[in-house]
Parts: sequence; C-alpha cells; structure tokens
Amino acid sequence: MNQLSINDLKRFKNELTRFMMTYKFALDEIETRIEILVQEFEMLHEYNPIEHTKSRLKSPESIFHKLNRKGGDLSFSGIKESIKDIAGMRITCSFVSDIYVISQMLKSQSDLKVLDEKDYIKNPKPNGYQSLHLIIEVPVHLSDRLESVCIEVQIRTIAMDFWASLEHKIYYKFNQGNQAVPARLLDELKQAAAAASALDLQMERLHAEIEVIKEEQSE
Ligand code: GTP
Ligand code: MG
Repeated sequence: MNQLSINDLKRFKNELTRFMMTYKFALDEIETRIEILVQEFEMLHEYNPIEHTKSRLKSPESIFHKLNRKGGDLSFSGIKESIKDIAGMRITCSFVSDIYVISQMLKSQSDLKVLDEKDYIKNPKPNGYQSLHLIIEVPVHLSDRLESVCIEVQIRTIAMDFWASLEHKIYYKFNQGNQAVPARLLDELKQAAAAASALDLQMERLHAEIEVIKEEQSE
C-alpha cells in the first residue's frame, strides 16, 4: 500500500476547502438575489414577503455520513453528484401565497436552473410536514472557471417553520435513544401540523381582507 505523505494531506485539505468554498459562494449568490428581491418588493409595494432567512453548509462529517447512508462515490465529483443539499437556505415567509411568489421569482431567473421541486404544502408528508423545496443549480464564477453548484432552498411560513423546528427537536431526542415514537404522539404531531396550517389560512384571509379595505380607502 502506498504511504500518503504530508503533502498529500496538504493537497487534500486544500481541495476540500476549494470544494466547500464553491457551496459558500452559491449561498452568497442566492442570498444577494433574495436581498435584491426584498428591497425591490419593499420599494414597489411597501411590503416585505420575507420574515427571515437562514443559510447553512453541511459539515464534512455530515456529508460523509449522508454519503455512507445513500451510498455514493467518495470523491469530490461523486459527492457533488449524489448530495444536493450541501448548501441549504431556508426562507421564512409571512404568508403561504408569498412562498409561491418567491419561488416563482427564483424560477424565472434565466441563469438559475431548478433541478427538482417538492411541494410539501400541496402534498404534506404523512407526519404533517409542510414546506416548498427547490433544488437549484447556481452558476458560480471563480477565477479560472465557471462552476454549477446545487443548493437546496426550503421556503415555508412562520407556522410551518415553528412546527418543523419543534418536530425535529422531539424526534432528535427520541432517535438518540433509538426509540420508536409512540403512535399517539405521532398523531398529536400531525394534529399540531393541521393547527399550524389552519393558522396560516386564517392569517392569509385576514391579510387579503385588509388589503381590500386599504384599496377601497385609497380610491
Ligand atoms: P434527504 O435530503 O436525504 O433528507 O431526503 P430527500 O431528498 O427526500 O429530502 P426532502 O426534500 O424530503 O427533505 C430534505 C430536508 O427537508 C431535510 O433535511 C429537513 O431539513 C427537511 N425535512 C423533510 N422532512 C421533514 C420532516 O418530516 N420534519 C422536519 N422537521 N424536517 C423535514
Ligand atoms: Mg434532500
């Protein structure tokens, strides 16, 4: 077996840094585009459809474990091919309709390519999870080349985010003990998701009604 040298380690660390950097740049790129949309929206409509955004990069450890689970080639090109959520951005919107406005705005940018879309709002997961997921390919201009980099964008309301964050916490505690979540609790979680969804509908209706009143007053 070939002994690896300290130079091999240096080269590997360097390549890993370069690899992870492209994902950071893709996130920077999308963050800027979202920021532009928000500022333009505020200027044109005096309205901001986004409550907050959060970006994250998967750690090399977590990439390694996911690759192990999914089964893929342990090379940078293999990882790029099989793991599409190394870079992730979560956009929390005010109302459900805003989710589709933001998603449409991203989809209509000609240099972005939507590789996959999962609408867990129209089709919630069996546990009640709701969100709109897009896998987007972003062009990243580096000093010597152009790279297409995938990022996962999750767009949801505050109520959907509230449910998903707490569901994740509850599950995480159980999974650490490798226990199955009792059926009654799963059922209650699903009921909580329905309550969050009802709240979204009610807020959306209130928002629409107030918009109509505002328009009538300005006539
Ligand atoms: P993986 O990316 O391998 O997890 O599977 P997938 O490609 O089928 O992913 P999917 O688009 O369904 O979900 C990806 C991400 O959405 C997860 O990493 C979570 O952040 C979020 N997500 C999906 N389902 C749930 C859920 O039931 N509860 C919570 N809290 N988050 C979820
Ligand atoms: Mg995924």
